[in-house]
Amino acid sequence: MKITVVGAGAVGASCAEYIAIKNFASEVVLLDIKKGFAEGKAMDLMQCASLNGFDTKITGSTNDYNKTADSDICVVTSGIPRKPGMTREELIGINAGIVKTVTTSLVEHSPNTVLIVVSNPMDTMTYLAHKVTGLPKHKIIGMGGALDSARFKFRLAEAIGAPISDVDGMVIGGHSDVGMVPLISHATRNSIKVSEFISNERLEKVKQDTKVGGATLTKLLGTSAWYAPGAAVSGLVQAIACDQKKIFPCSVLLEGEYGLSDLCIGVPVVLGTDGIEDIVEIELSDSDKAHLYTSAEGVKKTNSLLEF
Ligand code: LAC
Repeated sequence: MKITVVGAGAVGASCAEYIAIKNFASEVVLLDIKKGFAEGKAMDLMQCASLNGFDTKITGSTNDYNKTADSDICVVTSGIPRKPGMTREELIGINAGIVKTVTTSLVEHSPNTVLIVVSNPMDTMTYLAHKVTGLPKHKIIGMGGALDSARFKFRLAEAIGAPISDVDGMVIGGHSDVGMVPLISHATRNSIKVSEFISNERLEKVKQDTKVGGATLTKLLGTSAWYAPGAAVSGLVQAIACDQKKIFPCSVLLEGEYGLSDLCIGVPVVLGTDGIEDIVEIELSDSDKAHLYTSAEGVKKTNSLLEF
């Protein structure tokens, strides 16, 4: 199992580290445009192998896509991260050109790969990957919902005063401050609806805190987060690499599902060897459905800024 991660910045390096620590891949290639940077990160990570007990071989490359050839899974984290006060959408001008070059170069060298897009604005970058790579639709996955759901579970557990492992919940919709749809009515603590434990007002605050989860961290850190994004990507990579058939909310191309089409947006999917093996259509409340449609309009507006 060969995995390529493009972008050796904080998110890319964190992805590579979590993938290696989980010890299911034989090889991770880290690629970056900055000379020597990916090689340095790869060497540093390899020097963790005996300490953290993994056998995954991590190598670095300065923009040599030949080194990525025949990857089973490719992760794209390239591009600039947002600064405090910026929205993810504002990154489109710079990141669209980078993502176009990176995704086409990856697919040229690994025509059978599954592609995971992390670069922001993620839903639009995932849509761009569909337009420029020619990969089948089940092989292009945007990572946002897995991260947003982890942030939702963190906020729910905090509000309820429960351990995070007791809490389950999912965020669908666009990966943006306004577009996320945390599904409160589906969230549970050990199969009991979360509304049994906290008030609607507190749940509304959980929802708002979840939606600005990335912006809150950007304000604290001066750049966007990396540990949870890296861990979320590694979860998707493992589900595909190990054919786990797990459900994650991911940004995928919709063709009528949820009454939406011609965009990529977060909905629950089953992940296995083939990438997206099923799009799961769940019953949504009228208000969640309305939020999903508003979110879709926002994503389409950002998509309209793309030039192919
Ligand atoms: C975040 C970035 C990865 O939400 O979009 O932290």
